[in-house]
Amino acid sequence: MCEWGELLSEISVCTKCILHKSRRNPVPGEGSRSAQIMFIGEAPGAREDETGRPFVGAAGQLLTQLMELIGLRRDSTYITNVVKCRPPNNRDPSDDEISACLPYLIKQIVLVKPKLIVALGRHSSRTIYELAGLRWVSMAKQHGEPVEVSIAGVRTAVIATYHPASALYNPNLRRLIEDDFKNAIARAIGKEREPKRTLLDYL
Ligand code: URA
Ligand code: SF4
Repeated sequence: MCEWGELLSEISVCTKCILHKSRRNPVPGEGSRSAQIMFIGEAPGAREDETGRPFVGAAGQLLTQLMELIGLRRDSTYITNVVKCRPPNNRDPSDDEISACLPYLIKQIVLVKPKLIVALGRHSSRTIYELAGLRWVSMAKQHGEPVEVSIAGVRTAVIATYHPASALYNPNLRRLIEDDFKNAIARAIGKEREPKRTLLDYL
C-alpha cells in the first residue's frame, strides 16, 4: 500500500486516544496531495464528524469564502486538523490527545511538503509553532506574520490566523482574519492583486 493509503487506514481504525470512543467518523483531511498550501484547524466539529470531511460546517463555509476572496480554489489546497476525531461537545482537545494524534499531522506535512502552512486558531497555531521549535505567545501578537520553519525536515512557512469559527459572530475578528488572508496569505502564495493603477500612473 502507498504511504497515503497506509496513513488513512491507520487513522480510520485509530484508538490511540479517548476521542475514538465518541467519534462517528475520523476526519483525516482532504484536498490536493501536492498542495502548495495546507490549512490546519483544531478538531472536527459535528458536521465533520458526521461526514468524515474537514471544514464542512459553518466555519468551513467561511474558510472556503476566505480562500475564494484571494483567488484560491479549495480543492487546490490540503485541509486537515490537529486532532482527527471530534472532541465531545466541541470541547478543546487535551494536550494528551494532541500528542497522540500529532504523528499523523507530521506525516501529512512530510507527504504534502506544503510551501505554506496556515494555522487556524490558537490551539492549532500553538501546536504548529511548538512543532517547529518556536515559542507561541498569543494570537494578538503573532497572527498574520509569516515565519520560516523546518518541520520534520520540511522547510516551509507558517502563518497563524484566527479560527474562522471565532469570526462567524464577531465582526472584529472577521476583519482581522480577512486582512490576514488578503495581505500575509495572498502575498505568501503570490496571489496578491496588482496594485490599483490611478489616472496619475498614465500621465
Ligand atoms: N473547526 C475546525 O477546527 N476544524 C474543522 O474541521 C471544522 C471546524
Ligand atoms: Fe487516534 Fe487522533 Fe482519533 Fe485520537 S484523535 S483516536 S489519536 S486519530
